[in-house]
Amino acid sequence: MIYNRLVVFKNNWKGLDHMFELNNFEYESKEEFYDNVLLFAKGLMYEERDKIANLANISALLFNTMEKINWVGFYLHKNMELVLGPFQGKPACIRIQIGKGVCGTAADTRETQVVPNVHDFSGHIPCDGETNSEIVVPMVHDGQLIGVLDIDSPILERFDDVDRKYLNQLVAIIMEQCEWEE
Ligand code: SME
Repeated sequence: MIYNRLVVFKNNWKGLDHMFELNNFEYESKEEFYDNVLLFAKGLMYEERDKIANLANISALLFNTMEKINWVGFYLHKNMELVLGPFQGKPACIRIQIGKGVCGTAADTRETQVVPNVHDFSGHIPCDGETNSEIVVPMVHDGQLIGVLDIDSPILERFDDVDRKYLNQLVAIIMEQCEWEE
């Protein structure tokens, strides 16, 4: 499978100079792809605890490296609603009620939702008309709902249990790395 890979240039002995480039790279498996993504996610958030900065960079990392996706982003929990946060893709709906749509269901149940065909999901909220499948991972910190990570794909059955496992791990890393108290 050929996915994009983020490449970091080192310009001197002091280490990274924050310049990135995407290269095509042939991964042996989805697991190998995600191992690489988790490594880069840790690198991007290294010594940075600002949630908006980190969520913005993680959405860019995923959007530019995952194949066959059309939207990646975060909704953040505010006053019993999910409110649109950092994302990549077309403009999207701004507020989602807890319990509504795929995002609201993930937030309500605190369970990752893997939806093979969004048209079969009762209450699905269409944002980008190209979307056919979706995965939504709840973000919970110290027992509190923080928001969700939402990824859309134009193809059916794009996401499986491997995506679920690694995106759950990615969200766990994000939860640890950012400052959530306002
Ligand atoms: N489809 C989502 C809404 C968010 S967009 O996909 C960006 C849902 O049903 O909750």
